[in-house]
Amino acid sequence: MRTSLPMPASRLIAGLALALFGAVALPGVATAQDAAAIAASAAATAAAPAAASAALTGAPAGFLAPAEPKPDDSNAQRSKSQPGNNAPFWRKVRESGNDKGISNLPGTEKGVLIQSFTQYPGSRLTNAGEAWRQVRNAWLVPYGGALVVITMLALALFYFAKGAIGGHERYTGRVIERFTYFERAAHWSNAIAFCVLAVSGLVMAFGKFTLLPLVGHSLFGWLTYALKTAHNFAGPLFAVSLVIVFVTFVRDNLPSRDDLHWLLKGGGLFGGVEPPSKRFNAGEKIVFWGGVFALGIVVVASGLVLDKLLPGLAYERGDMQIAHMVHATATVLMMCLFLGHIYLGTLGMKDAYKGMKTGYVDEGWAREHHALWYEDIRTGKIPAQRTPPVELPVGAQPRPLM
Ligand code: HEM
Repeated sequence: MRTSLPMPASRLIAGLALALFGAVALPGVATAQDAAAIAASAAATAAAPAAASAALTGAPAGFLAPAEPKPDDSNAQRSKSQPGNNAPFWRKVRESGNDKGISNLPGTEKGVLIQSFTQYPGSRLTNAGEAWRQVRNAWLVPYGGALVVITMLALALFYFAKGAIGGHERYTGRVIERFTYFERAAHWSNAIAFCVLAVSGLVMAFGKFTLLPLVGHSLFGWLTYALKTAHNFAGPLFAVSLVIVFVTFVRDNLPSRDDLHWLLKGGGLFGGVEPPSKRFNAGEKIVFWGGVFALGIVVVASGLVLDKLLPGLAYERGDMQIAHMVHATATVLMMCLFLGHIYLGTLGMKDAYKGMKTGYVDEGWAREHHALWYEDIRTGKIPAQRTPPVELPVGAQPRPLM
């Protein structure tokens, strides 16, 4: 709002202001004496006869009244019309997602300080960074965490209710080569990488709520940084070993007619006797095609984006946010699936672990858990020993070749 002063007074104030401004900002007007001289001359002008002042209209020469602020002012204009109000600058920052600013920072998204408005599934319509934060904090962390905990509880309950399955067939002491050295090497490289990724991923996603209150900020900060680095390196190892695992086991995981029967009988998990299956049963095939293949592709692809290892992508913030949400969802599902696999491979099924550790299983184990596979070996369709025996488990004798 502007007020109008009587002419001589306004001229006096303008003169003083000019003098003061000149003392501060004008080149060549450097001292207080100069400023005082200007003020004196302004006062003299103001005291001129009324007739002379009446002849003058408007502001003195050289005086520019500040412009009214306008909504589309630049920051420079606004700093003159309303000194100290830098709203246009912050408006530009907020809108830089749609209307890029100018920046000499290197890298992508130059000039975009705050992304444009977006609505990710499960978020409100807000700027993309905040929308991603909402998805992570309101969905991925609570529901993903709950799913992992529920899976572990369900497996624990199942174990306490049923115990380890198997152990009903008499062992003969004669063994069959179930996994070659190469198959075991591929499996364990993949499993070790998976465990490193799972532990570090869980700490990154849920550690703030579970570990931080227990170990404190210093240790948690150090640990999370170390695990994040381990995660970034184990990822590519997991990707390569997953491809090798896929190629190694795909043949024996192709669907076969006995799978349907196995599934209809629920794998014998609840009724006692295990339905016959070939080398791998339908449950293992579901883990293979759902976990190794389908989720494997999604987890590895999104992980490689997050590691910025796929060539030809811009890697803007929006790309990383989407990759993160896809990665978190797929890895939670993968962890739940593999928790089931790890349970059956260790506590859940007698001597399954021994097969993957030593490469050999007893004839009795094969007959009980993979009756059709055992039959193929017994009748000589599949050799009981596929590679030259390196070292048999203590006390075991190779099964005579048919
Ligand atoms: C600590 C973790 C793991 C343990 C203890 C474990 C244990 C086992 C065991 C004991 C077997 C033999 C099952 C049988 O004889 O039928 C097996 C097979 C297999 N495992 Fe694992 N495993 C682990 C992690 C993984 C991971 C992370 C993957 C893949 C991402 C995987 C993929 C496979 C595959 C493909 C087979 C062959 C059977 C099939 O195709 O289902 N394992 N595992």
